[in-house]
Amino acid sequence: MANQVKVNTGNGEFEYPVLSGSVGPDVIDIRKLYGQTGMFTYDPGFTSTASCESALTYIDGDEGVLLHRGYPIGQLAEQSSFMEVSYLLLNGELPNKSELDNFTRTISRHTMVHEQLTSFYKGFRRDAHPMAIMCGVVGALSAFYHDSTDISDPVQRRIASHRLIAKMPTIAAMAYKYSVGQPFIYPDNKLSYTGNFLKMTFGVPAEEYEVIPAVESAMDKIFILHADHEQNASTSTVRLAGSSGANPFACIAAGIACLWGPAHGGANEAALNMLKEIGTPDKIQHYIERAKDKNDPFRLMGFGHRVYKNYDPRATVMQQTVREVFDALKVNDPLFETALRLEEIALNDPYFIEKKLFPNVDFYSGIILSAIGFPTDMFTVLFALARTVGWVAQWNEMISDPGQKIGRPRQLYTGPTQRDYVGIDKR
Ligand code: CMC
Repeated sequence: MANQVKVNTGNGEFEYPVLSGSVGPDVIDIRKLYGQTGMFTYDPGFTSTASCESALTYIDGDEGVLLHRGYPIGQLAEQSSFMEVSYLLLNGELPNKSELDNFTRTISRHTMVHEQLTSFYKGFRRDAHPMAIMCGVVGALSAFYHDSTDISDPVQRRIASHRLIAKMPTIAAMAYKYSVGQPFIYPDNKLSYTGNFLKMTFGVPAEEYEVIPAVESAMDKIFILHADHEQNASTSTVRLAGSSGANPFACIAAGIACLWGPAHGGANEAALNMLKEIGTPDKIQHYIERAKDKNDPFRLMGFGHRVYKNYDPRATVMQQTVREVFDALKVNDPLFETALRLEEIALNDPYFIEKKLFPNVDFYSGIILSAIGFPTDMFTVLFALARTVGWVAQWNEMISDPGQKIGRPRQLYTGPTQRDYVGIDKR
């Protein structure tokens, strides 16, 4: 049969089914491989392994395509809203007007956090990295919302999902307020999801806060661009944590911890720091040479991607949004010129061409976020805020899958074989 793959191990020939998705490469179903052959597959970094079945997000890395439930990211970023995309990811279809209104109202009713949660912040140093605070505070939610931690109950799962999406802006804004020594601002449910977040972040009790529509729209677009990205490291972390039956708040805290790393969500902070270090276009060539030098650990941050071997479609929208924000705020950051020039030089350099290294979502995001007024250490927090909907949708999809099992990879063991214990006096 054409849709079978034969494996000859030396101990016999075995056949494995080839499964096809709705689009994208076929996969070889090797679930019976170990039972039949006594062998594992070896794939560190999961470069050739599909860890699950999913109907949420599709990426064609060679073509630079990203679809959420079939809809291209460019269309969603230009025509939709973060609330609508959240509904789409959670429910599979775009909402009609009343479904969207209901969903938005439900989310807005969960924006406050338990007052006792504010004590957690006071336990952190003022100079704590806000991602450290996020890991702690989001994990602590499971100690506050016991009525939504029974993962076998779909109603509790839905409430926990809404709580996480709704409370993340409040928690993120509080992390910022704590770092600058300003009072926490309560949510204002008259405002949009994104407008409310901006007010909680930049508003102060002493003055009226006016949401600038162009900034609100740019921020909403940035949230859409970060909403989900199929089985990346943090999403896989959330799924793996959730596969043991852990509660959703704990699972999302695990995702936040994974996202923090500079190879993943931490790259937006690292990319802006890199652009600041480069400074002016005349220094670019020096950094390009460093990035190409195998003996130098320096990499162009915001460049390259495990899946995209073409322009990251999110980076295209991000680059356009820089101009929108500059126009709205009447600012101009010279680092944008440096970034554009760096991109041009890198994309014409044989090293980057051969390795198919293109700007990713993080290359331009820092320039926008910094123009809006966020300090660099908040960048990854914003990524976590937006990605929460993707994590939650992926977690729900996994829990609802009747074939779901605890995630338990195997290994190629290279340590010592069995040996006898030697007493300390004989070592
Ligand atoms: N600058 C210079 N060389 C690079 C870069 C870079 N940014 N990225 C990859 N390479 C080289 C790498 O040295 C390797 O060369 P060789 O084949 O000669 O050993 C080759 O390209 C393949 O790289 P890799 O590290 O094997 O690829 P990967 O798929 O394991 O890593 C990555 C992907 C995103 C971790 C990597 O490209 C990287 O470190 N980029 C910088 C960090 C970054 O921008 N991360 C954000 C990713 S997008 C947002 C998100 O999803 O979180």
